[in-house]
Amino acid sequence: MASSAVAFATENHARFLSELKDLLRIPSVSTLPEHALDCQRAAEFLAAELTRVGMENVRILPTEGHPLVYADWLHAAGKPTALCYGHYDVQPTDPIDEWLTPPFEPTERNGNIYARGAVDDKGQVWAQVKALESLLAANKALPINVRVLFEGEEEVGGESIAAFVASKPPELKSDFALVSDTELFAPGLPTLCVGLRGMIYTEIEVNGAKTDLHSGMYGGAAPNPFFALAQIIAKLKDENGHILIPGFYDDMIPPSPEEMAAWKSLPFDEEHYRVTEVGSRQLVGEAGYSVLERTWARPTLDVHGIPGGFTGAGAKTVIPAKALAKVSMRLVPGQTPAKAYAQFKAYVEQIAPAGVDVTVRLIHSGDPCLVRVDNPYIQAATRALHEVWQKDTVFIRSGGSIPIVGDFDRHLGIPSVMMGFGLPDDNIHAPNEKFNLKNFELGIRSLIRFLEEAAV
Ligand code: BES
Ligand code: MN
Ligand code: MN
Repeated sequence: MASSAVAFATENHARFLSELKDLLRIPSVSTLPEHALDCQRAAEFLAAELTRVGMENVRILPTEGHPLVYADWLHAAGKPTALCYGHYDVQPTDPIDEWLTPPFEPTERNGNIYARGAVDDKGQVWAQVKALESLLAANKALPINVRVLFEGEEEVGGESIAAFVASKPPELKSDFALVSDTELFAPGLPTLCVGLRGMIYTEIEVNGAKTDLHSGMYGGAAPNPFFALAQIIAKLKDENGHILIPGFYDDMIPPSPEEMAAWKSLPFDEEHYRVTEVGSRQLVGEAGYSVLERTWARPTLDVHGIPGGFTGAGAKTVIPAKALAKVSMRLVPGQTPAKAYAQFKAYVEQIAPAGVDVTVRLIHSGDPCLVRVDNPYIQAATRALHEVWQKDTVFIRSGGSIPIVGDFDRHLGIPSVMMGFGLPDDNIHAPNEKFNLKNFELGIRSLIRFLEEAAV
């Protein structure tokens, strides 16, 4: 179907990309306090553009953390209302030496744009803004009512947006959410994500002696907190990847036989995945479950870092007084962060070896989600995607988490259409993050056509 908004997007593609580069130059790393002003600047950049393209009631909503950006356009009487969501914050850039070009100097290379946040999620936020611009420029109106809500704390747990959504403000009254923060299952394959894992992110602190000690004078008598931590960590999972926290798996709702059957027909090559995406000698995890089941529908537990002690060059003979581990668990439908955390904390306290003090802390958490697909918006999305990509849509889950998606369902009672355009090898959260330029272009086109189809 010819769409003048699509024609506008095609004609203006070079400008859209150059504007995206300006957004990518803002180092809006939400977890680092020294970048708080950059997060503010990214929010202002988006608000200014939403205003310029003709969105109304554009507001930067301050929070206890980084601001939310709100806008709306509500003149499509009798038509549904979409809530467009994305995040402008990005992950830190370390290890910085492994970037081929600097993370905040966006660079085009072999059909991709490389920068921190290129695909997660500034490129996709920008695709939404440019879809709205194209529709407004071509038609002087949007086909449906649209609200926009962008956040700057997704990568640190999304606490502020969660509080805002939980308060059910009238300005969020919508019929569905359009979430652009996911990926295609494979290049060229239109994909809707229908499930995300939840998570609890924790810290285990172990204290031994009252101060750091000479390891010769005290080694053999003083407790070593790193050793205690290693003993704790070793008891969290068995050698088959099974989590040993009592009761942890009790409330899980397994995927339906239909969903599992659909996953079997996805074009997934485990060896290719091992070599090109993971790049390890072998894959690990629970026996008896496929890789897709293990990453989409089974909970998991990972250690992210063990800061503390002596880590400089050379050698220092010390028994550190304190050791820390960052440990997270991904949760699946049925599990709740509150219960999983209580089970984890009780178990860690129980297995803590004698002679040290162990403190468990929760840093952030988010619920798992499964979205409903029995709604006209998912139907409209598959029609739009078929037109743009010339293929039937595949429905997948993702092992990652977007905490607010569960809240859209729980608090606003609306389904989410998770239409994202990343690729599995986009290096999100890693060095050399990229966004495929064709996906940026077809992503904008898909979003335009989706909003048009949602009016039908
Ligand atoms: N966009 C990702 C989540 C994602 C990744 C969805 C891959 C689909 C495919 C999101 O920005 C993210 O990284 N979320 C964090 C959330 C956490 C900090 C609460 C995550 O999953 O680690
Ligand atoms: Mn993201
Ligand atoms: Mn992310």
